[in-house]
Formats: sequence, C-alpha cells, structure tokens
Amino acid sequence: MIDGEVLENIRRHIEVINDTSGLNFQLLCAGEPGISAVKVAKTMFSGPIYACAALVGRNDNLSAEKVGMYGESLVLYATKLGLGTCWVAGTYDANSISPKVEEGEKVWSVITLGYATEKTPLRQKMIRAGIRKSDRRLEQFLESETAYEELPAWVQKGIEAILLGPSAVNRQPVNIVYSDGNVCARLRRTDYELVYVDLGIAKKQFMAAACDQGVDGTFEWGDGGRFIQLVGNLE
Ligand SMILES: Cc1cc2nc3c(=O)[nH]c(=O)nc-3n(C[C@H](O)[C@H](O)[C@H](O)COP(=O)(O)O)c2cc1C
Repeated sequence: MIDGEVLENIRRHIEVINDTSGLNFQLLCAGEPGISAVKVAKTMFSGPIYACAALVGRNDNLSAEKVGMYGESLVLYATKLGLGTCWVAGTYDANSISPKVEEGEKVWSVITLGYATEKTPLRQKMIRAGIRKSDRRLEQFLESETAYEELPAWVQKGIEAILLGPSAVNRQPVNIVYSDGNVCARLRRTDYELVYVDLGIAKKQFMAAACDQGVDGTFEWGDGGRFIQLVGNLE
C-alpha cells in the first residue's frame, strides 16, 4: 500500500492543479490490500495498482493540453515521492473506476500510482523495448538553422527530456523550433485524439529540464506556443 502521508501529498498536489487549471483531476485509491484501484491490461503491468489519478477535463484542445501539462507535473511530483507511475489512456477497464464527470467533461487518461517491481519482468521489458524502437533521433525534434550541437545546453536538455518522456504509443509528435534564441513547441502531426495531451507533456518535460539548467520559463498554450523565460539570460 502507499503510505498515508504520501497519498495526502498527492491529494494536495491535485487540489492545487485543479484550482490553477480548471481541470477536475481525482485521486482514486484501492479499498483493500491486493486489490487494484483500476483494472489494466495485464500485458503492461505486474502487481497491484494501489492508487490512480483520473484525469478529467473538458473535451477541447486547450483542456487536452492542460491535461498533458498538469498530468506530467503530477508524474514528476509522484516520482519525487518515490512512486512509480504510468499514463494509461486506452488499455484499462473504464467500468472499473467511477470518477465524477460533469457534463462536457471526459476522462482523458488515468495515471497509475504504485511501486514498480524491483526487476522488470522479461515480458514487460520486451514490450517496452518494442515500443521504444520507434524513438526519433534528437536532431529530428529540431527545426532550426542552428545545428543541434550548437544549441544552448538548456535547449539541448529540453529536447532530450521530450525524447525520454512519454507520449501516446510513443508517437513523439512535438518538434522544437529554435530561431534567434527563441523556442517554440510545434506539432508535426495532429492526426490522433491524444495529440494535444502529448503537446502538454512535451512542454512540461522541456520546462523541467530547462529549469534544471537554470533557465526558468513557461510555454504559451497552443500549437506553436513560445517558451517565455521568467528569469535568466538566453545564452
Ligand atoms: C497520453 C498517453 C496515453 C498512454 N496510454 C497508454 C495505454 O493505454 N496503455 C499503456 O500500456 N501505455 C500507455 N501509455 C504509455 C506509453 O505507451 C509509453 O509511455 C511510451 O510508449 C514510452 O514508454 P516509457 O514511458 O515506458 O518510456 C500512454 C502514454 C501517454 C503519454
């Protein structure tokens, strides 16, 4: 089971997210030990899932992007608390959870919360390696006249973090446009339902990595949204 204090921290983090964003994220916990909070396809998980967050929000592109941005913020926070997480939008039983969904809203995805087994079982290892085979090369994420190696370190690290981060079925749809010291996040494809969720996730991954490099900033919402620095210099 997950420690009560850890769960309380997650609950508070979700409250702040909802107050800030207008989203309707909800923490769902398993009732008893050995029982999962959500039923997921066995191919991807081993062991019980103690809790999950249901990512509920309105059914439009901006809400989808916010689901990605704030969902990934929850993932990074949970990871810091020592939990294992996974985005699951498709391969779970929707009837096994009952979050409150208002009119005009939908459950975009769930994020599972628990502890990963010490060793990844062979089956899951092989499935993951198969999915990650479609990884793009770092240079393929960049649209710029500047070569990847010539970029400032914070932009390189930001792109690396997008590559390492999750996207739905590993489609990796977000490119980084770099020109005259400015950064934008651009969708190179928009042909699937979760593409704006993936845009929000990629922006959050970039922001977290840039921040680690001492460049604190945030993206404007939307496809092509610019990275706005809050403090520090570009170079
Ligand atoms: C929005 C979103 C939805 C996802 N839905 C599922 C899903 O339904 N089932 C699943 O097993 N994995 C799902 N994933 C996990 C991705 O397949 C996985 O994160 C990606 O392929 C990269 O693998 P990694 O995160 O293990 O490195 C989802 C990821 C995202 C970002």
